[in-house]
Amino acid sequence: MRIEEQDGTPVRLTMTQADDWHLHVRDGAMLAAVLPDTIRRFGRAIIMPNLHPPVTTVAAARDYRRRILACVPAGTAFTPLMTLYLTAATTVADIDEAAASGLITAVKYYPAGQTTNSHHGVADIRECDRVLAALERHDMPLLVHGEVVDADVDVFAREEVFVTRVLAPLLADFPGLRVVMEHITTAAAAAFVRAGPKRLAATITAHHMLLNRNALFDGGIRPHHYCRPLLQGEEDRKALIAAATSGHPRFFLGTDSAPHARFAKENACGCAGIYTAHAALELYAEIFADAGALARLEGFASHFGADFYGLPRNTGTVSLVRDVSAVPQTVSFGTGPGVPFRAGLNLQWRLVETLA
Ligand code: DOR
Ligand code: ZN
Repeated sequence: MRIEEQDGTPVRLTMTQADDWHLHVRDGAMLAAVLPDTIRRFGRAIIMPNLHPPVTTVAAARDYRRRILACVPAGTAFTPLMTLYLTAATTVADIDEAAASGLITAVKYYPAGQTTNSHHGVADIRECDRVLAALERHDMPLLVHGEVVDADVDVFAREEVFVTRVLAPLLADFPGLRVVMEHITTAAAAAFVRAGPKRLAATITAHHMLLNRNALFDGGIRPHHYCRPLLQGEEDRKALIAAATSGHPRFFLGTDSAPHARFAKENACGCAGIYTAHAALELYAEIFADAGALARLEGFASHFGADFYGLPRNTGTVSLVRDVSAVPQTVSFGTGPGVPFRAGLNLQWRLVETLA
C-alpha cells in the first residue's frame, strides 16, 4: 500500500484491489443500472440472494450469476460470489449439491420478516440444525443477519439479543461452523466477534460508521437512512470505527449497498436499505483517514475478507485521491430514480483508477 502526503495530510492512496463481502445488486433493469458502481471499485462481491423469489437452489444461483455476468463489460474482471438463501425447506441434499457445484460461496440466514424480502427466511434458525451440520461438514460459511424476530424485543436491541440468545449457542453447538455476522451495528457485537473463535468474522458497512440513529430523525423522518439492522447510538458507531480500523483480521468490508426505487423508500411503509455502491471505497477511505488509520484500510478492504473465505487476495490495485466532489440528488436505478447515500452532499475522496 502506498500513501502520499502533502503537508502531513494523506492526499492519495494506492492499495490492493478491494472486495465487497456483502452486496445487493437485485435483478433485471436495476441490476444493469447499479452493477457498474461496484465493478468500478471491487474485484469480487458476495451477492445477496434476497430476490423475488429468493435464490434457494444451485440452479437459480447459476442463472442469477449468468445474468450478473451479462452486465459485466467484456475485458473487465469482476467475480460475483454466489450465495443461497436459507429457508425452512432447505435440505442437506441442497447443501451437498451447493458444495459439489463449486458455484456457491456461502449460505445466508435471514430471520423471517426482519428486512427486505426476508419473509421466506427462518424464524428460528435451530429448525435448520441438520443443514447447519452440513455447512459445517463442507466448511461452507453461514452468513447471518443478526437480529432476533421477537416482537417483544426493542428494535434497537435486536442485534445484541441475537448475539447472546442465538449466535453464542450456535457457535457452541457447531464447533466447526464458519460464521460471518453481517453488517454489525453495536459495540456488543464487535466485542463478541473480537473475543470469538477464528471461524467467526464480521462485515461492517460504511453507513453504520458514518451515521448514528439521530440521522433517522434529522429535522424530520429520513427514510433514506433506514436500513436493517438499524443505525445505532453514538457509542456503538464509535465502536464500529474502532473495530474496523484496529487491523483485526476478522473485521472486513461489506457495504450492504441495497438499492430501492425512490418511491419505495419515500413511502408510508418504506423499505430498508441504503445505497452506497456509488461511493463505497470513497466513504471507507474517509472513515479511515478521519480516524488517522488510512494505513489499515488495505487490510480491511482488500486482505482480510479474502483470507477468511480462503480465497486468493486480488492482484490488481485501486487508487483514490483526496478531492471533494458532490453526490447527485438522484441516480438512475434502471426502473426509475433512486437516492444515493449522501445525496446532495460531498465526498472527500475520489476513485481515480482500478488496474486489474
Ligand atoms: O437494509 C437492508 N436492506 N438490510 C437488509 O438486510 C436487506 C437489504 C435489502 O435487501 O434491501
Ligand atoms: Zn444485506
